[in-house]
This record gives sequence, C-alpha cells and structure tokens, in this order.
Amino acid sequence: MNQISSKFEPLPDWVAEQVVSWRRHLHQHPELSFQEHNTAAYVEQLLQQWEGLEISRPTATSVVAILRGAEPGPTVALRADMDALPIHEENSFDFVSTAPGVMHACGHDGHTAMLLAVAKILSEQREHLRGEIRFIFQHAEELPPGGAIELVNAGVVDDVDWVFGVHLASLLPVGQIGIRAGEMMASPDNFTIVVKGYGGHAAYPHRSIDVIAIGAQLVSHLQHIVSRLTDPLDRLVVSVTQFTAGSSHNVIPDSAVLKGTVRSFKSSVRKEVPELIKRMAEGVAAVYGATVDVQFIYGYEPVVNDEWLTSLVKEAAIELVGEEAVIATPPAMGGEDFSAYQQRVPGTFVNIGAGNEEAGIVYPHHHPKFTFDEDGLLNGVRLFLRVTEKLLSEQQG
Ligand code: NI
Repeated sequence: MNQISSKFEPLPDWVAEQVVSWRRHLHQHPELSFQEHNTAAYVEQLLQQWEGLEISRPTATSVVAILRGAEPGPTVALRADMDALPIHEENSFDFVSTAPGVMHACGHDGHTAMLLAVAKILSEQREHLRGEIRFIFQHAEELPPGGAIELVNAGVVDDVDWVFGVHLASLLPVGQIGIRAGEMMASPDNFTIVVKGYGGHAAYPHRSIDVIAIGAQLVSHLQHIVSRLTDPLDRLVVSVTQFTAGSSHNVIPDSAVLKGTVRSFKSSVRKEVPELIKRMAEGVAAVYGATVDVQFIYGYEPVVNDEWLTSLVKEAAIELVGEEAVIATPPAMGGEDFSAYQQRVPGTFVNIGAGNEEAGIVYPHHHPKFTFDEDGLLNGVRLFLRVTEKLLSEQQG
C-alpha cells in the first residue's frame, strides 16, 4: 500500500512461517533471568548456520553476533531480550510452556525470534551492506541488575553509533507501532523499611511499641512524598507492595517489614526520594519511640529515547504501516534495562502492536494468560530491517 523502496520489502517468503516456529519453540522452553542456557545455545546454533556472523558469548547466557558489510559505514546495534518469568502459564494453545512455573509472559520469545529473522535476512544481504550490525541477544531483562549492564560492561556497544530495540505490546492493536521521543519508561527503584519496636501482649498495647500501627501510618505518610514533597510536574510513584509483621491474634510483634517500589524519570527526583523516605520513616517511628532501618536499591535508569533516532524510526514506521497506524506512546512507569545501552549510545525503544481483541488477545504483560498476535512479529522484523537500512545509509561512523 505504501511506496517504499527498500531492498527488504517485501520480506522473503520463508520469514512468516519460520519466525513463528522459532517463537513457539522458545515459548515452549522458557528460562528464567540469568538461567537462559538452552535459549542462548539455541540462538547460537541457529546463528552459526548463517554466513558472515561473528558470534560471541559475552556472558554465560547471552549471545552477540556481528555482521560486517562489504564497505565501511556506521555501526548499528539491534537488541532482543530472551528471558522468561516465574509465572505458571494458563494458556491452552498447543505450544504452552513445558517448564512448570516458568513462562514467556512478556513476549521476549517473540523478540528473540524477530531478531533471529533479521540476522538471517541481513546475513544473506551482507555483500550489499555497508557498516556493521551487532545483534544483541540479551539475557535477564526482568531481574535487576539486568543483563544489559553486563553486556555494556563487556563492551558490546563500544563504538556503536546507535542502538535500537522493540517490545511487542499486547495492549496495542496488531498493525500499530507506538513511538515516543524523550522519556518513555521510568526508573524502577526499590526500598525496604524495617520498623523495630517492642513486642508484647495485645491486651496491653501501651506497654509495647506497636510496629503494625506505626507501619500502617508510614504506608499513608509515604504517599505525601508524591503529593506534598515533590513537584507535581515530575512523574513519581511510591508504592508499598509488601507489609509483613506478626504471627497471631494476641501478640504485638517486635518488628515489621515494608517493601515497595519508586518509579521516577528525573535523576534529581531519583536522588531526593530515598532521603525523603528515610526522613519520613525515621520521623514517624520517632514519634512512637521506634527505630527504622531503611535500604534503597537502585534499579534501571529511565528509558529516554534519542530525538533524532526516534524521528528516523518514526519515518520508517510510517513507510511500513502508514501514518494512522503510528501511535504516540505515552510515557509509562514500568522499567526496562534497555536504558543501560542508552547511557552509552543514542538509542530508541518502540512498541510493536501485537494485541487482538477479536482473537481474545487482551491480557496484559506478566499475566498467566498473556500472549500476542504473531502477525505483530512481521512488523517487528520489517521495522528492524528498515531502521537498519536507513541508519547504514547515514554518514556517521
Ligand atoms: Ni518485557
């Protein structure tokens, strides 16, 4: 439907069937973060069959392939993540997970399958390419500190000009592509607060220091960090997600543990919030004579998409699916360790629509019934190829 002059359009005939079969194999054999041994071996063994790829294993469960074109030019890194989640699958199609309690519930099986197809197609075209392409099959996106930072530290994006990644999105209709320049995904940081009081008989609360009563106040006080202590124009979430204390009806326990997450975009906010949590916790505890121990664990950096690269990707997306199918993705408070690459190299991350209400594909990511419309895989492959083609024709590098 669109006028597009690309050596990759239309896709070779084998792609549609092959990408689905790779995806289904991966879906049946999910592995948790940092444990993707069989997945990495499967990817490596496929890459070895294709000409011109220099394959390495920067960590135990990741695979990187380098493809050099016939002429010098820029270096482009393409990234797919490969890990699954500790979720027991509740789907009933014939390629469900064969590993009890482990499931590809975020679409990373699809990401890996798409990048495999892209690597094969580009390897077949290597004599007509300039520059260098690095295919990053990354482990452990789901579990901080994440696989991306390990690969960055291993030098995987050294001398790379741009990095590009995609995520299949089950809540975005198949056919659409979601793009955003600037802040796209937040920093997912975590905290743990241990409240220490003085246990005792529940009938005589005045003789104890009741950590449950104090913890409960703290849960609501922490919300004032968002509503009263930080700028309302800065996006910020503080959620207590776990509150553990006590073991019976009539005993006031000694200590309580509160755990939670902080989501933010700005580094100034990110620096300020741990101090505010500590001050709040110490202050509330002090009123009742309790003490607190506050731990803050920094997660991934926020995903902030490079303006120029994002506009190039948007152009490519419009060529492929048409202007009306390219959607402005709103920023989200979820996290993604793609940001680790962006700390080094201009990068952009986009959503590939893979939802389909009519087909019942409506479950969110990380749901036991999550799946995606496999037609979305082809748009992902096409976008990877078109973006690469455009970037390799740039003068940088
Ligand atoms: Ni994901």
